[in-house]
Amino acid sequence: MARLSETQIDEVRAHSDIVEVISRYLPLKKAGKSFVTTCPFHDDHNPSLSVSPERQIFKCFVCGEGGNVFQFVSKYENLSFLESVLKVAEYSGIQLEVKASDLYQKPVSKYDKEHKLLKEAIAFCRYQLSTQAGKPVVEYLKERGISPEVQEAFQIGYDPGELGTYLIKKGYKADDLIALDLVKDFEGGLRDSYANRLLFPLFDANGNPVGFSARALVAEQSPKYLNTGETILYTKGDQLFHYDIAKKKSRSEGAITLAEGVIDVMALYACGIEAGVAALGTALTQNQIELLKKACDTVRLCYDGDPAGRSAAYKSGSLLFEHRFKVEVVTGLNGLDPDEYRRKFGNEALRTLVSRPLSWIEFLMEYLLEKYDLNNFSQRQDYAREIVGRIALLSEEFDQQSYLALLSEKTGIEAAILAGLLPKKVKTVRPVIVKKPRKRDTLLAEDTLISQMLQNKEAVGLYQQKLDYLIHPIPQQVTMVLMNYYRTHDTMVLADFLSMLQQEALIDYVLHISESEVLSAAYSPAIVAEAIDQIQLAAIDASIAGIKSRQIMSASDEDARMAKISELKKRRHELVGKRI
Ligand code: GTP
Ligand code: MN
Repeated sequence: MARLSETQIDEVRAHSDIVEVISRYLPLKKAGKSFVTTCPFHDDHNPSLSVSPERQIFKCFVCGEGGNVFQFVSKYENLSFLESVLKVAEYSGIQLEVKASDLYQKPVSKYDKEHKLLKEAIAFCRYQLSTQAGKPVVEYLKERGISPEVQEAFQIGYDPGELGTYLIKKGYKADDLIALDLVKDFEGGLRDSYANRLLFPLFDANGNPVGFSARALVAEQSPKYLNTGETILYTKGDQLFHYDIAKKKSRSEGAITLAEGVIDVMALYACGIEAGVAALGTALTQNQIELLKKACDTVRLCYDGDPAGRSAAYKSGSLLFEHRFKVEVVTGLNGLDPDEYRRKFGNEALRTLVSRPLSWIEFLMEYLLEKYDLNNFSQRQDYAREIVGRIALLSEEFDQQSYLALLSEKTGIEAAILAGLLPKKVKTVRPVIVKKPRKRDTLLAEDTLISQMLQNKEAVGLYQQKLDYLIHPIPQQVTMVLMNYYRTHDTMVLADFLSMLQQEALIDYVLHISESEVLSAAYSPAIVAEAIDQIQLAAIDASIAGIKSRQIMSASDEDARMAKISELKKRRHELVGKRI
């Protein structure tokens, strides 16, 4: 995989402005020296995310998310670190020596051969749309309002029944084609699995091709949709159609939009909703829910507008809501599916409809009216009970109260009575925390040391001479990166140092240290020396305790033990003596 050098990364960072970049995504408001906005990384109601133009970092005071410009873009767009560097370079008009295609190339996967074969198949089928044989297919796409842009984006193709022959001529082995379900072995020979069908390629979460969803072109062809069978790359129920793109777009769209049909996902795409996915002919599976979780905490259901679609939305929505997603439901499709709605009323109409979904509880209140008759006393009670049960799952007290009020309005049952149906809050029993030996002072000494090292390269030199280890794992890992950083930098630029910290826990720790009031002391060799002594002392105490707790096996063992303890105590004494 192509890589960017540290210098290149620093250069992009130095030539970009975090305020300018973040304001491409979020509205920033000036507040003193910084800018603030509501945090996109948690369910925020007040502006808790602060962006510092001076330090070129961002930080949320509620959820703790923070970092430099790359880490913002990477987090917001679900991009890898290197992809985010490339994106920021693009924003800032910086030419990089690395080609985008190199950078996006995934590390060599063990399925490279299979991916290559599928890419070749996709390319062949795409090409067919420009041939004589493809004319009726192009006509079909036109009739269905699938524009050339959408065809390109989804890499739509057509197999006139020659895919297998073509690939074999190109030197691919029949067995490999069979293994990927591109062809089937019939008695008379090989036959294309998707002959005379429209092909929608399927991709995994990383954008690698894994198979096809193949749609019939004429009513006589059955089934209407034929998906790739079980292969090493594709398992029914494991993938979501268009997930690789939707995952990246879901943050800026605020939700991932789940539709029933693959063509519906294209309809959404055509009207600017790019974070659309579909489940490919199965009820939502656990694996698909896991994929959604990785993308976004809000799922917007845009199912067909007929009773079957509403009932499917109820089922999927219930499942997602139980999995703690924020669920929204698009309604008002007039009995149509999203694709039909778009073709009848236009792109803008579908876009508007999707942008005004009902919340999950609002949808339930509406949907369950079909199941319960509110004029019947006991059914009205059942209706209220079922909905209160869902309201109980909301985490915000405010939301609970608002919905109870709404439900009270709908049913005529007093809000207080409805509130009484909420399960009593069980006091959560705190797990018993086994107290570890007190290490607070050591941790503070380590924090102090890191704080000093974050200010001056000299502190790292002193540390390497006198100590060269830390007790706690996070400060220890940060020290390793610090040593690395100062090998190529003479002064500390926090925003550049952050680029080198690839783990969230380390970034959080460093931001915490650099912002702590307690640790604000400027660099001084005396402070460094003091911290080093304290850490050594703690390490000696830990060694003594360790030796004392060891089992004694023999008399000579005991002697060795005493000798070791006395040596450690002597060293301890020297240290303490020096400190007084
Ligand atoms: P279009 O007619 O192409 O617009 O399809 P649709 O999306 O309106 O069709 P429908 O609502 O019937 O199907 C929704 C989704 O279910 C499709 O996109 C397919 O993924 C899947 N599906 C439909 N029919 C079949 C089938 O016969 N077999 C399989 N495996 N999946 C199907
Ligand atoms: Mn349809």
